[in-house]
Amino acid sequence: MQLRKLGRTGVDVSAICLGTMTFGDQTPEDDAFAQMDFARERGINFFDTAEMYASPPKAETQGNTERIIGNWLKARGARDKLVLASKVAGRTRDMKWIRPEENLEGGQVRVSRAQIDYAVEQSLKRLQTDYIDLYQVHWPDRLYRGFGFQTYKDYPQDFIAFEETLDALGRQVAKGNIRHIGVSNESAWGVMRYVAESDTCGLPRIASIQNAYHLLNRRFETGGLAEIALREDVGLLAYSPLAQGVLTGKYLGGARPEGSRGKLYNRLQRYEGPNAAEACARYVNAAQALGLSPVQLALKFVDTRPWVTSTIIGASRLAQLEEDVAAFDLVWTGEMEERVNAIHAAQPDPCP
Ligand SMILES: NC(=O)c1ccc[n+]([C@@H]2O[C@H](COP(=O)([O-])OP(=O)(O)OC[C@H]3O[C@@H](n4cnc5c(N)ncnc54)[C@H](OP(=O)(O)O)[C@@H]3O)[C@@H](O)[C@H]2O)c1
Repeated sequence: MQLRKLGRTGVDVSAICLGTMTFGDQTPEDDAFAQMDFARERGINFFDTAEMYASPPKAETQGNTERIIGNWLKARGARDKLVLASKVAGRTRDMKWIRPEENLEGGQVRVSRAQIDYAVEQSLKRLQTDYIDLYQVHWPDRLYRGFGFQTYKDYPQDFIAFEETLDALGRQVAKGNIRHIGVSNESAWGVMRYVAESDTCGLPRIASIQNAYHLLNRRFETGGLAEIALREDVGLLAYSPLAQGVLTGKYLGGARPEGSRGKLYNRLQRYEGPNAAEACARYVNAAQALGLSPVQLALKFVDTRPWVTSTIIGASRLAQLEEDVAAFDLVWTGEMEERVNAIHAAQPDPCP
């Protein structure tokens, strides 16, 4: 397994990160244990979770994923061999159940010092550990374009200052509860503001950006983030590399296979915009023409981008994980590069 540096932290993380957001809902605990065992055997030392998970977010399953990882850590030990990443929820009115009533501010979840302190404490308990290696802000405290939103307005909404969030995270670093910090679902402006505040205020520096990135959404490359990732050593932890399973081709023609995320939760609207199905079909056909599976083409594409520190793969069951990990053995060729770039040029980013 290839190891890569996590920002400027000196920490080595595997090029594959195990995504866990289905654990505790779609993926039962025994399969989650099997996935974590398999990942560790294959040299994957990097797991990603969040206080909000299991996903899709629901009050009754919130915290399940961290609890399952905690149970596994207790059973298997070797905590120091793992780079464990979690996340604090960003601003929301919709998921108030993440916090006790008295912890909300203006009736909202916010990325404030009090809420970060509460979130870290709860995650540590669920994870049954005394530190988190990488602690990420799951989405910003301000309005942002993510999770498939095409447009937005009203930028000048108030938000918690970057310095305050960094200071709160820095206090957790000083206590030893978290070791490094990162952001997620961030814009180029947000990442640069975080970096600038760290440099001028002597606060911890973000080591990573966890954003969506896959063949149907390459905005990270064109919106300024790829250059920032490379020049500032804030690498991409690419999530949804299979576009939540869409890039396997299994949803083409409106299919909804039994047991799939698309059938169970009906939450694939992000991947159903104009041109999405057509572009997806082109990638699936290109894979076939190259003698590959769609999974190999999609995952290896992400892995071979120089701004990617780690590709966060998700599997709802072990057999998928085995196929996904094997896909990284592929050697990427110039012909593959040309094929995907030709499709991208004709139909760029149909699923932002
Ligand atoms: N920061 C954020 O806001 C954010 C958002 C999303 C994800 N993430 C992180 O990124 C991780 C991965 O995200 P993701 O789950 O969306 O990744 P993904 O790789 O795009 O999608 C994973 C899903 O695709 C399907 N799949 C995977 N391998 C397959 C295979 N070989 N054959 C057929 N279907 C296959 C499975 O769903 P079905 O079995 O249901 O079809 C699986 O659950 C998450 O666990 C989480 O840690 C972060």
